Amino acid sequence: MIIRPARNILGALRLPGDKSISHRYAMLAGIAAGTTRLRNFSTGADCASTVGCMRQLGCTVRDENAVLEITGREPLQEPAESLDCGNSGSTMRMLSGILAGHKFPCDLHGDESLSRRPMGRIITPLRLMGAEIAAFANDRPPLHIKGGKLRGIEYKTPIASAQVKSAVLFAGIFAEGATAVEEPYRTRDHSEQALRAFGAELTRSRARVSLRGEQKLHAIEASVPGDISSAAFFLCAAALFPDSNLVIEDLLLNPTRASLLDILKMLGTRISVINLEERHGELAGTVKVEYAQLSGITIEGGQSVALIDELPVLAAIAPYTRDGIEIRDAKELRVKESDRISLVARNLRAMGAECQEHEDGLSVPGGQRLHGASIDSGGDHRIAMAFSIAALRADGDSEILGADSARISFPEFFTMLEGVVER
Ligand code: S3P
Repeated sequence: MIIRPARNILGALRLPGDKSISHRYAMLAGIAAGTTRLRNFSTGADCASTVGCMRQLGCTVRDENAVLEITGREPLQEPAESLDCGNSGSTMRMLSGILAGHKFPCDLHGDESLSRRPMGRIITPLRLMGAEIAAFANDRPPLHIKGGKLRGIEYKTPIASAQVKSAVLFAGIFAEGATAVEEPYRTRDHSEQALRAFGAELTRSRARVSLRGEQKLHAIEASVPGDISSAAFFLCAAALFPDSNLVIEDLLLNPTRASLLDILKMLGTRISVINLEERHGELAGTVKVEYAQLSGITIEGGQSVALIDELPVLAAIAPYTRDGIEIRDAKELRVKESDRISLVARNLRAMGAECQEHEDGLSVPGGQRLHGASIDSGGDHRIAMAFSIAALRADGDSEILGADSARISFPEFFTMLEGVVER
């Protein structure tokens, strides 16, 4: 994919449904009584992996007239083959929680990238709950799980990860007694909102969530708000051009996911939100963003956790700010679909930018001019899309290698980008 420099970003968009919410709705629909109907379900390959796994587990899935229908099956059925999680860490980790509550044995595998990602973080709590679960080597996939009778646990997770929290809570629905998870920093709360929507009772106090075991779920009808991590690329693009004006309708604005808007405001961008509404506990609204000279910022602690999927694009546009962006406390970026810290640094340097790599982040000075370059996405969707945005303000054309990886979360990305770019 060749990206030519842009002159401006202008237009109005509506995006496919949020990936995190789509995963959770599809999984919970699979264990709920009745047929769940979902509109604006994520179009990404990751969520297709989750839906494929639910099919393998005996759920009936129909996709008609833009509505995804999933009929739950209680209990799930033993799959004939290993469950294919594709590139999706969310699928493997969160589904493991559900499988821990089922007594049949099963295997889960993923692609080359997923096969390198750490699973010890879910293996430890699920074993404590009583599931038999083993990884291939060094806590990496494939996984073998034989669940069954679980007991509720009180789990203090050492890593701030919504996937870990979700795996434990999902297992907790099948367990005897109560399950609680406490996290070091607050992570996205879509599992809590989705569990409530599907009829479960749960309580939260600060960074601790707990639920009663042996709860039954029922089907829902929902329309998934637009994916804010996909919107991030367009919002950052609009923040780069003096005459830009971009509107994104029905965008997910859950406060545990919308920190990018706060960061863009702190950098100086003008952002307004209208038409706010809540659906199944998830906030959505229309966001308008307009240019202003971007200043600079340090992102650290809980903010890095809340922005974990948006950090690559923020780092990629950092050279165009006045004072630069420093990112700390984001070591988790090294164990995503790629080592995102080292790939961002490498691609920034390929475009002629100066930056400093840290074990837990990056420092990118502002006031830099970049030139077009050949970008190595490492097969990572967020790197491919982040550098497509950086390329819009570079001198000369850039080539994005492995651009096809955008299909993992946002297959429409390049077409929609062309629709709002002025040259
Ligand atoms: C996700 C949580 C985050 C995020 C991932 C999706 C989720 O991962 O990076 O893209 O939907 O819960 P961790 O929970 O591992 O930080």
